[in-house]
Amino acid sequence: MISSCGIMKRLRSPWCHHFANHRLCSSIMSMLFLLSMVCPSSNASAFTKPGCQRTCGNLEIPYPFGIEIGPNCSISSPWFDIKCNTSFDPPKAYLADTPFEVVDISETQIYVKNSRLQLAMACYGKELDNKTGSSTKISIEFLHSPYTFSDANQITSLGCDDLATVEGASNASVWKPSKFGGGCLSYCCSPVEPNDTGSCPGAGCCRTSIPKGQRYLNVNLSDMHSNWQGFKIFQCSFAFLGMMNSSDFKFRLYDLNDSTTFLNKYTTLTDLPLVLDWTVPGSRNCSELAEDSADLACQQNSDCIDSDTGVEGYRCRCREGYDGNPYLAPGCQDIDECNDDPCDSNGICNNTVGSYNCSCPDGYFGDGRRNGSGCFQVPGSRDKVAIGAGLGSGMGLILLLSTCFWLKRFLKKRKNKEQREKFFKRNGGLLLQQQISKDEDVYGKIRFFTSKELDKASDHFNESRILGQGGQGTVYKGMLSDGKIIAIKKSKLVNEKQVKQFINEVVVLSQINHRNIVKLLGCCLETEVPLLVYEFISHGTLFNHIHDESIEFPFSWSARLKISVEVAGALAYLHSAASLPIYHRDIKSSNILLDEKYVAKVSDFGISRSIEVDQTHLTTQVKGTFGYLDPEYFQSSQFTEKSDVYSFGVILVELLSGQKPVSSNTKEEERSLATRFLLCMEGNNLDSILDTRVADQDRREELIAVAKLAQKCLNLNGKLRPTMKEVAMELESVRMSQTLPTTAKTEYQGVWLRKPKAILISEDDYTSTADTTTPSSNDYPLTIHTS
Ligand SMILES: *[C@@H]1O[C@H](CO)[C@@H](O)[C@H](O)[C@H]1NC(C)=O
Ligand SMILES: *[C@@H]1O[C@H](CO)[C@@H](O)[C@H](O)[C@H]1NC(C)=O
Ligand SMILES: *[C@@H]1O[C@H](CO)[C@@H](O)[C@H](O)[C@H]1NC(C)=O
Ligand SMILES: *[C@@H]1O[C@H](CO)[C@@H](O)[C@H](O)[C@H]1NC(C)=O
Ligand SMILES: *[C@@H]1O[C@H](CO)[C@@H](O)[C@H](O)[C@H]1NC(C)=O
Ligand SMILES: *[C@@H]1O[C@H](CO)[C@@H](O)[C@H](O)[C@H]1NC(C)=O
Ligand SMILES: *[C@@H]1O[C@H](CO)[C@@H](O)[C@H](O)[C@H]1NC(C)=O
Ligand SMILES: *[C@@H]1O[C@H](CO)[C@@H](O)[C@H](O)[C@H]1NC(C)=O
Ligand SMILES: *[C@@H]1O[C@H](CO)[C@@H](O)[C@H](O)[C@H]1NC(C)=O
Ligand SMILES: *[C@@H]1O[C@H](CO)[C@@H](O)[C@H](O)[C@H]1NC(C)=O
Ligand SMILES: *[C@@H]1O[C@H](CO)[C@@H](O)[C@H](O)[C@H]1NC(C)=O
Ligand SMILES: *[C@@H]1O[C@H](CO)[C@@H](O)[C@H](O)[C@H]1NC(C)=O
Repeated sequence: MISSCGIMKRLRSPWCHHFANHRLCSSIMSMLFLLSMVCPSSNASAFTKPGCQRTCGNLEIPYPFGIEIGPNCSISSPWFDIKCNTSFDPPKAYLADTPFEVVDISETQIYVKNSRLQLAMACYGKELDNKTGSSTKISIEFLHSPYTFSDANQITSLGCDDLATVEGASNASVWKPSKFGGGCLSYCCSPVEPNDTGSCPGAGCCRTSIPKGQRYLNVNLSDMHSNWQGFKIFQCSFAFLGMMNSSDFKFRLYDLNDSTTFLNKYTTLTDLPLVLDWTVPGSRNCSELAEDSADLACQQNSDCIDSDTGVEGYRCRCREGYDGNPYLAPGCQDIDECNDDPCDSNGICNNTVGSYNCSCPDGYFGDGRRNGSGCFQVPGSRDKVAIGAGLGSGMGLILLLSTCFWLKRFLKKRKNKEQREKFFKRNGGLLLQQQISKDEDVYGKIRFFTSKELDKASDHFNESRILGQGGQGTVYKGMLSDGKIIAIKKSKLVNEKQVKQFINEVVVLSQINHRNIVKLLGCCLETEVPLLVYEFISHGTLFNHIHDESIEFPFSWSARLKISVEVAGALAYLHSAASLPIYHRDIKSSNILLDEKYVAKVSDFGISRSIEVDQTHLTTQVKGTFGYLDPEYFQSSQFTEKSDVYSFGVILVELLSGQKPVSSNTKEEERSLATRFLLCMEGNNLDSILDTRVADQDRREELIAVAKLAQKCLNLNGKLRPTMKEVAMELESVRMSQTLPTTAKTEYQGVWLRKPKAILISEDDYTSTADTTTPSSNDYPLTIHTS
């Protein structure tokens, strides 16, 4: 038994990580836990002197205080003797020879009470001079003691025209420097209605505080009668000394008319604890005692602290990481912080002398601390199967039984796990793991979702959850267990050559934090095809808003312009401001999502690539969407940043014309919207292609400016196209030149947008440190009135 207790101290939950089957291990752990309750506690540090009584009634009394049953139970001062009167049930502890009952003892303070001595009261008959109160004074002194009144105490005075004064000093024979005087006046407005409430401090009540370091206090309660209305409103007034904890005490003012009722009704006032600061008496301070430690009461691993009350004396305090009674040999003991589980449930706790250390098992990352980053597992890392190690440790039969019970499950799980590991590797998990562990910026930004988690979130990838299906995969809507709505993209199979690229993208995208780019939340690599998890954008695609006839409200020109500015800004950011240039490679209106405030979010980086800075183009297999595809790229297979510009040009034309990029019902050569648009522009016949919904909107100059910009974007020679940054700036300036339309408001998607006169330009949305002169539309100060 004794040896297993030793083992158990070492066996903490992280130990389970060496087991592939955590469940099995946990069940063993709980058995061990049950056994460990039988183990004796090793850390019973001294509390009282040997042979002395620990408690009086419910109160524990630590050394240097002591219950006077034999000599030397308290430190060598009679003031630390606690008299335990066992004729009460439960017994009551009294402070030395005083009439004060001890209610609590802390490291720095002692709480006592005596309801009679802490109360001053005066009740008056009809005639002023007929006082019947028991006492109009409180007078308490702890002269020549190690106690001073704490500043937690106050004088609380109740009455409708009464004055409470207080005087104090630390030494009766020396008035200076610590003599102090104060007071307060309690007053209420008359006439008083029967159920008017008094409050503390406030109506009918006042409070005054007491500075630290006083050893005696004198409180006088006196009437202000003659100075006020000429008669007492209520017969009684009271003053209480002690710590009034509730900051707002309420009472019925009428109750002041009857002292017995009042005192019985408001017992919080008659039970106020009086708080005393205590120190180890002695005229020498800590630095003097340090030279002659024979007299110093502080034991090992503790520090001497000078009294902060302005009177002599000191206290002892355990050093950080140590615990125990600093006044008793052998002094403070190392705290086994590991007992409080300061480490993550996956972490390994190592108690050190005066501190502790958390670490993470192999395959886990992080600082291991519960309040820090914890230990997080990048899935796929190998847990070593160490089932044999457990079998040897003497738990014999019970262990065997539970092993049998779990074995079946274990084998099944292991097979499952092996498969997940296989997928994880194939999907580039190890590569990502490497990247994460060496790149500070990525650390913590990619969340690894487990296949189980996403399966649950998407209701087993239920068809009813499908948001969209495209060339790169299927997107499902899902809800995480914390209620967050997500979009899960199930990618097409990734072949081995693409893995590195794919992982790079995940790393790059996880670092992008731009208002107009859909945020990547994380990924799951332990499924057959990699899953990417994005934030969910609720209001559908730009494509639907332009082309879906059933959408009720016309999509106004200023809304279209705002969206084009946002998209251009996002693409410019991807091209130039992100740490590595990223080409989207599949820009189309169905990849632009709108959120509930109609803010555009660029999405679907399924085939996007980040490229090394010295490269200017990629030679790839042509990919993209017909109708948006740069003809130059189509011929040369060389994707450049200008190819994205071309696709964006098509979106501008879509916004201008309201037509689909490819139409099926026209002649072959006229199918492409871009071609038709260019022909119109050359023929100076823009009107023939403009969307009637915007052509009428009295924005001719803007329409022409944007049409010209679109024409430049669609230039067949990529070199002559503007960069995304230039496009973004141009669009922004078009929008800034917007004059207020005559109506000042435009109805738009059921909301009213008020046009701002000036547009605020903010760079806050750019997380990159790169030069970001691109104006951003992100702080467009929309005033939205839902109608
Ligand atoms: C109590 O303390 C005094 C002085 O510290 C010592 O002389 C005496 O022997 C002690 N008594 C007992 C019973 O320990
Ligand atoms: C204990 O309290 C009772 C009641 O107040 C009192 O009569 C008695 O003298 C006390 N005993 C001691 C030892 O103080
Ligand atoms: C004071 O009050 C008491 C009882 O309330 C009464 O007996 C006494 O006569 C009063 N004295 C004067 C001077 O009014
Ligand atoms: C008060 O001060 C005098 C003079 O400094 C000193 O002799 C005396 O011990 C002090 N009394 C107390 C209770 O501290
Ligand atoms: C005041 O007290 C009277 C009875 O004494 C009661 O009827 C009335 O509701 C009370 N008013 C309030 C505001 O509590
Ligand atoms: C309080 O009352 C005492 C005794 O009646 C008196 O000596 C003292 O001056 C009074 N103090 C104040 C502040 O009124
Ligand atoms: C009194 O209040 C303080 C904080 O306001 C709190 O720390 C303390 O525990 C309270 N004490 C009691 C006896 O309720
Ligand atoms: C308070 O009590 C006195 C005597 O009992 C009485 O005369 C007076 O009216 C009462 N005051 C109020 C406000 O009830
Ligand atoms: C301790 O006392 C000595 C002598 O009274 C004094 O010189 C020294 O400043 C004091 N140290 C502290 C920290 O108060
Ligand atoms: C715990 O820490 C101590 C000292 O820091 C070290 O010697 C010991 O090897 C550590 N134990 C473990 C299991 O890490
Ligand atoms: C924790 O462990 C690390 C490495 O083992 C060591 O560098 C560090 O000093 C330790 N911290 C503490 C508080 O023991
Ligand atoms: C975590 O706890 C340690 C020790 O308690 C503390 O030093 C550290 O500041 C805490 N960190 C955070 C982030 O709260």
